Amino acid sequence: MKKIMLTGDRPTGKLHVGHYVGSLKRRVELQNTGDFDDIYIMIADAQALTDNADNPEKVRQNIIEVALDYLACGLDPEKSTLFIQSQIPELCELTFYYMNLVTVSRVQRNPTVKAEIQQRNFEASIPVGFFTYPISQAADITAFKATTVPVGEDQMPMLEQTKEIVHKFNSVYGETLVDPKILLPENEACMRLPGIDGKAKMSKSLGNCIYLSEEPEDIKKKVFSMFTDPTHIRIEDPGKLEGNTVFTYLDAFCRPEYFPEFLPEYANLDELKEHYKRGGLGDMKVKRFLNNVLQAELEPIRNRRKEFQKDIPAVYEILKKGSEKAEKAAAETLREVKAAMKINYFDDQELIEAQKERFAQ
Ligand code: TRP
Repeated sequence: MKKIMLTGDRPTGKLHVGHYVGSLKRRVELQNTGDFDDIYIMIADAQALTDNADNPEKVRQNIIEVALDYLACGLDPEKSTLFIQSQIPELCELTFYYMNLVTVSRVQRNPTVKAEIQQRNFEASIPVGFFTYPISQAADITAFKATTVPVGEDQMPMLEQTKEIVHKFNSVYGETLVDPKILLPENEACMRLPGIDGKAKMSKSLGNCIYLSEEPEDIKKKVFSMFTDPTHIRIEDPGKLEGNTVFTYLDAFCRPEYFPEFLPEYANLDELKEHYKRGGLGDMKVKRFLNNVLQAELEPIRNRRKEFQKDIPAVYEILKKGSEKAEKAAAETLREVKAAMKINYFDDQELIEAQKERFAQ
């Protein structure tokens, strides 16, 4: 069986460092292993519209931002197909058929959907399109016969829903769809990178993000305003690592080679952590180190982004080519799905013959 990776993001804002450690970095590494027969990276504009129906301009503006962030991180259109969800009408058709295989109560139990309904104050009036987006996500994944879906933990319920649809479809209509595997981030810090205020998650509305395209001065300001251990007041005080955003970021971003480069007094992160816990290590010193680490990680990304920004029509062209290729793949799956469901009337010579027989008697 072919190895196919698919994943994507809603274009509702620029991508931030949470996206980077949670998924983007891994995608690029996987892309560069050369292990995959095909890689599809989707800008999920249709999904973004399910809760932004009255703000299409926001989605429209952010498509290019996300595409630039992808390219800046090292996704390479020669190796990965970058495309826009709404340009693949086959995904809507698949969704429509999959809807028959899912119950309303099953979607209601989806914890991510539940949380999002609350966040968006949709309790009293949930748009039907929003409610069914997990089903459309199953279409996204199966249309490309994805075997590997690298996403954050919050997407786990979507993958479970997809797997159920795959099993149900295959048991009702015969073996057709490919069962995908989720690939979660490797460490806890990457899985749930908090905002700079230490709040659960980075979000634009909370103003606690560090964006991938952030300028050096702003990165520095944000690092120096980061939430640490509020009980660690004097340098001599022992410090706590749990809930200490600066250390969570170091867990997510620090590489061994940054110690000799920026903080040669310590051999590694464990030594730094031990000193902090013991007392005698000030927040400023750790923040200065984190700032150096983040600057080193983000500089090449920011510079590559600026290069791509010089030729915006070329970026749209990449998305157009990618969407054309993606549509071909989805159309092939849709043909197979319709054949399995026996709604391919005009290609089904057997059906036509059988009906001919029936009326000949
Ligand atoms: N739900 C994803 C997000 O919130 C975006 C997405 C849409 C996606 N379809 C997908 C991710 C298919 C992985 C696979 O960003």
